[in-house]
Amino acid sequence: MARRLFSTFRALAHENPLGLPNRRAPPPTIPRAQRGLPKKMPIRGVDNVIAVASGKGGVGKSTTAVNIALAAASLKKKVGILDADIFGPSIPSLMNLEGEPELSDKGDQLIPLTNYGVKCMSMGFMVDKEAPIVWRGLMVMKALQQLLHQVDWGHLDLLVIDMPPGTGDVQLTISQQVELDGSVIISTPQDIALIDAVKGTNMFKKVNVPILGLVQNMSLYICPNCHHESHIFGHDGAHRMAEKMDIPFLGEVPLHADICKLSDAGQPIVISQPDSPFAAHYRQIATNILNSLPAKPAKQ
Ligand SMILES: Nc1ncnc2c1ncn2[C@@H]1O[C@H](COP(=O)(O)OP(=O)(O)O)[C@@H](O)[C@H]1O
Ligand SMILES: [Mg+2]
Repeated sequence: MARRLFSTFRALAHENPLGLPNRRAPPPTIPRAQRGLPKKMPIRGVDNVIAVASGKGGVGKSTTAVNIALAAASLKKKVGILDADIFGPSIPSLMNLEGEPELSDKGDQLIPLTNYGVKCMSMGFMVDKEAPIVWRGLMVMKALQQLLHQVDWGHLDLLVIDMPPGTGDVQLTISQQVELDGSVIISTPQDIALIDAVKGTNMFKKVNVPILGLVQNMSLYICPNCHHESHIFGHDGAHRMAEKMDIPFLGEVPLHADICKLSDAGQPIVISQPDSPFAAHYRQIATNILNSLPAKPAKQ
């Protein structure tokens, strides 16, 4: 019985319903549309789109996405954040925003909410904060399509997509349907997070999304009282993984109570303590990301 179940899972894992490149087959030369794959669409008005992802939840994706976005805005870029975590949206509380988005004049587009100079869109604006979203896949996909293609961003230099954890439907839909300029993988130094980060990285590789690099979050713990530093999650795991996978290392952020406390208060550290070393880490990571994006003529 167990053996039969196991082989069913293996067969499923090797099935290719989404037309991902098969390692054994030669690269397909037939255009995406003819292979039944959706066409990758640009996001209107946005010059560069990046996805901030990880394999695992709770490694600091949303915290990093928000601080990177705010750091890029402090570098004079026009920036937006799209919260693609339909079931666990964090952007409203991290960005201290609430309220329903208004509709455009024609009534076909959502107008993002803005705080700290950054435009934001999230499922969290449209549903009750404390009510769980209990949806089947089809409804999730419908909501995702709206978030991706029916938001009036105006003109943005950079849109940061805060991805949900894992490598499921939402991640695949975004990476197959949106013209992503790159992905940023977040991991903590522990092996267990790194294993999932490798999976996340490989998913983007499979769907031909460039990997801009890896950020090591919670790299070391700094005691807020005595400032003693300790590597509670191990030393340099993400750094070594980036080297092994041959992807750039974009930088690291320590584990510090202020980052957590200020995030919870809706005042991300890049905004509330811009002179702190932590804000400097995020600005360095944002600079590395901006420098690795392809130069593009501004989109209309
Ligand atoms: N560098 C950090 N130092 C301290 N706390 C952090 C740091 N990064 C994230 N956190 C905290 O860890 C928790 C999970 O972070 P979050 O960004 O929500 O993760 P994810 O989006 O990957 O699920 C939050 O409470 C957040 O404030
Ligand atoms: Mg999150």
